[in-house]
Amino acid sequence: MEHIINFKGADYYMTKILIPYYSSYGHIYTMVKAAAEGAESVEGVEVKIVRVEEFDAVKQAMSSQDAYVQAQEAQKDVPVATHDDLRWADGFVWGIPTRYGSMPAQLKQYIDSAGGLWMNGELEGKATGIVTSTGSIHGGQETTAITSLIPMLHFGMIYVGLPYGENTEQMTADGIGGSPYSASTVAGPDGSKQPDERDLIMARSLGKRVATVSKKLKA
Ligand SMILES: Cc1cc2nc3c(=O)[nH]c(=O)nc-3n(C[C@H](O)[C@H](O)[C@H](O)COP(=O)(O)O)c2cc1C
Repeated sequence: MEHIINFKGADYYMTKILIPYYSSYGHIYTMVKAAAEGAESVEGVEVKIVRVEEFDAVKQAMSSQDAYVQAQEAQKDVPVATHDDLRWADGFVWGIPTRYGSMPAQLKQYIDSAGGLWMNGELEGKATGIVTSTGSIHGGQETTAITSLIPMLHFGMIYVGLPYGENTEQMTADGIGGSPYSASTVAGPDGSKQPDERDLIMARSLGKRVATVSKKLKA
């Protein structure tokens, strides 16, 4: 109706959390699903998980590995991430496994190709958090989280960490994930470990925290 000029649909009032991730062997996929549960537990929040597309060269190189093939099969129905997904979102949880101590090129390519959004400031003021993983305990979880933060700050996002007060699970010397910088997990040098229940608790907590902050920023 023409005279209701300020009408906004119910969708407008939802806080939208996007979870873009890349996962070769499924550990990050498991972790981002836990982050999604946490985000969804906040009232008025809608969550979308999207996978960043694999490179053909990597597909070819890894096609002889059963663990890789099975993990890719399990993710085949997850929608592929687009730039419109970034526009849609009010906040983000990124699923970023470690490659040589930093972000995989697949995710960097997704972020680098979003330069138009950067130029228009379209992601400024949106909350963001990171879920990461490594093969070994000291393989670079903190470096991946901190170096991934740099492009996010260029986009003007507001970083959400994982404080010790809310996440006592990280106060341990056990070989699990979790730090003030990100929720995380250790896959094992051969990828045979699965996320510890405490890793999943921290991933849920981060998802909830990002959703809560995003909702407040939107309000
Ligand atoms: C090319 C490549 C580089 C990697 N670099 C590291 C590394 O620097 N440190 C480490 O601990 N693990 C490293 N890994 C292991 C991955 O981080 C591990 O397989 C991943 O975190 C598991 O998550 P996913 O199952 O979701 O892929 C590397 C794996 C590949 C394929």
